[in-house]
Amino acid sequence: MQTLTKCLEYVRKQTDFVPKIAIVLGSGLGSFADEVETEKCVDYADIPGFPKSTVAGHKGRFVFGFLRNVPVVLMQGRIHYYEGYTMHEVVLPIRLMRLLGAEILFLTNAAGGIRETLRPGDLMLLTGQISSFVPSPLVGPNLDELGVRFPDMSQIYDPSLASVVSACAKQANIPLKTGVYLQACGPNYESPEEIRMFGLLGADAVGMSTACEAIAAVHAGMRVCGISCITNLAAGISDTPLSHREVQDTANRAAQQFHALLLSAVPESAALLQ
Ligand code: HPA
Repeated sequence: MQTLTKCLEYVRKQTDFVPKIAIVLGSGLGSFADEVETEKCVDYADIPGFPKSTVAGHKGRFVFGFLRNVPVVLMQGRIHYYEGYTMHEVVLPIRLMRLLGAEILFLTNAAGGIRETLRPGDLMLLTGQISSFVPSPLVGPNLDELGVRFPDMSQIYDPSLASVVSACAKQANIPLKTGVYLQACGPNYESPEEIRMFGLLGADAVGMSTACEAIAAVHAGMRVCGISCITNLAAGISDTPLSHREVQDTANRAAQQFHALLLSAVPESAALLQ
């Protein structure tokens, strides 16, 4: 809590902006920040105690501003467990955005498709998740200021938010699949045997983020929505070896649709705010 308080104090010295909705931008989505009427940007590197993102293509800053008059905070670049950070560090930004005022959280990511009906370029709304292959971000002393010791996780992804996103997709003619996301540790892509196991366990798509952030957010009382961009077929589903390049290229190609969906769904979801 001490680090979190220090981060909060620093950001509050930079801006008194109170975001209601937080959005984590995954691979290829960074430019969504251009849609925001920006009030203030805060670089992660300037925040004392804040972990730094090390992945190429991830910018590493908070963008505070308005999206169609709704006060939002965007994370341009997230912190990944595979970078070597503890789970506490990985979810620190989520908790910080909560303390800054955000009540709703949109998590976006790039993911490999496991279920056969998923194709590269598809957008998938998360209906559930499997996080059993990475440690829980709640291990360690409980932060009572944020939430309870043993939080319920029977509905991590908020059904009302999901309905808003589905309706927006329909209206904008954007095909939207649904499915279960599994967080793997990374940074290596999975083996075909692991993918077969994940499929048997009920996973539709696999990635290296998001599930731990969703847990921290639910713990802290946020309503969470998750959307994956399927950037590739998971290992062994197709014959081609996986590459970060392929993931980035597909994410960039799908970015326009992803932007359009977020641009309508985020302001619409403001109706759910208390
Ligand atoms: N596996 C894990 N993470 C990913 C993948 C994948 O196939 N694609 C994009 N992120």
